[in-house]
Amino acid sequence: MARIKTFFTCQQCGFQSPKWLGKCPDCNQWNTLAEEQSQPPQGSRALAAPGKPQKLGEITSTAEDRVSCGLAELDRTLGGGLVPGSLILVGGDPGIGKSTLLLQAVDQLAKSDTALYVTAEESTRQVKLRAERLGSTAENLYLLAETSLEQIRKRVTELKPGYLVIDSIQTIFTNAVESAPGSVSQVRECAGQLMLQAKGEGIPTFLVGHVTKDGAIAGPRVLEHMVDTVLYFEGDPGQPYRILRAVKNRFGSTNEIGVFEMRESGLREVANPSELFLAERPEKNPGSVVVPALEGTRPILVELQALVSGSSFGTPQRTAIGIDHKRMALLIAILDKKVELQLAGQDIFVNVAGGVRLDEPAVDLATIAALASSHLNRAVEPQTVIFGEVGLTGEIRAVSQPELRVKEAARLGFTRCILPHGSLKNINAPKGMKLVGIRHANELMEQIFD
Ligand code: TYD
Ligand code: MG
Repeated sequence: MARIKTFFTCQQCGFQSPKWLGKCPDCNQWNTLAEEQSQPPQGSRALAAPGKPQKLGEITSTAEDRVSCGLAELDRTLGGGLVPGSLILVGGDPGIGKSTLLLQAVDQLAKSDTALYVTAEESTRQVKLRAERLGSTAENLYLLAETSLEQIRKRVTELKPGYLVIDSIQTIFTNAVESAPGSVSQVRECAGQLMLQAKGEGIPTFLVGHVTKDGAIAGPRVLEHMVDTVLYFEGDPGQPYRILRAVKNRFGSTNEIGVFEMRESGLREVANPSELFLAERPEKNPGSVVVPALEGTRPILVELQALVSGSSFGTPQRTAIGIDHKRMALLIAILDKKVELQLAGQDIFVNVAGGVRLDEPAVDLATIAALASSHLNRAVEPQTVIFGEVGLTGEIRAVSQPELRVKEAARLGFTRCILPHGSLKNINAPKGMKLVGIRHANELMEQIFD
């Protein structure tokens, strides 16, 4: 019999050590190492099964038949539908709506083939009540309340479903590993076995994974590299809007987002997010700027807000929500040095409305505009949108897809766009839209105010 070894695994990042340590050397979290026993895990061992090298040309490839989940926003995030045999991890905070999203998706999928929803957290009655609330009508949707992976696999072999949902991966366990459910070894082993099943039997499988307060799925990154697709469901629990974001996708682009609204009767898709994000914009208020950002292939207009106010303490506060903190510090320094706006002693807050995260440099120019507008207490002209990258000398650099951004702004009734001069040559201005190309951050000040 194989000797059982004990080792210590960080429950946050999966780091393993033969000794207990107070602080994980990998992710620097305190008190996250827990004792686990190792037995040769089956999922990972079978993965290493020997195979014969084959010529690329000899491998048969069927054109990917993607299946629509009946929710266009989910299909978009998956890269155009569900790929047979794929394993998809849906992560998110507890209570954000993961179970609701997947129940709605399998409800639609069950119209074409049998679907099995394994609920390891709630009873079948609870899921049934929710399904009724969502107006579910699917006949071929099966529910199973089970936490043992061996039992789940047995039922899958009997039922042979076309689609499978495991809600959640942290509450199921396998006998192959001795650790408690939710521990890294359990989560990894269960996911490994479910992946073999998904690939072997061609069953697309969704795994639900809860995010812990540190922002990692518990038993966490260990899963990201195993699965084909990682989707995160995000949003402010106090707000009805939810954003589904692909952070890894073997079958499509990441950065695609899907936007949903949580209603009494479940999640509703938002096909026109720009309108939604601009709905509550305070026009003619200093510090508010509209930026045409690009999320994957889709242009979305969002409002960026800045508040600059005199600091009452020695060290001024700097807070960025929705944009990178370091990027904000850099833009403040550029404003200080190149545009000669004295922001050094000021408290500065930047926020992207609607809970959106903007990670592209095209947001730089809008951030600068919002900061200047708040600092000078002058409102930006309300029909204007602004985008462009700002370099360290204050020069404005071209960004990708300017035409898409300008078109989306024109569609929503904006009449003026301030953009990098270098982007001008690639654009035909839509009707009613005036394009203002600028070369340096200094020129921005002459253009943005009423
Ligand atoms: P849920 O899908 O259970 O979240 P998760 O699986 O991510 O933990 O959704 C929980 C929240 O969604 C709950 O607070 C109630 C709300 N909700 C609605 O507002 N409308 C609905 O139709 C449903 C089913 C849930
Ligand atoms: Mg749930």
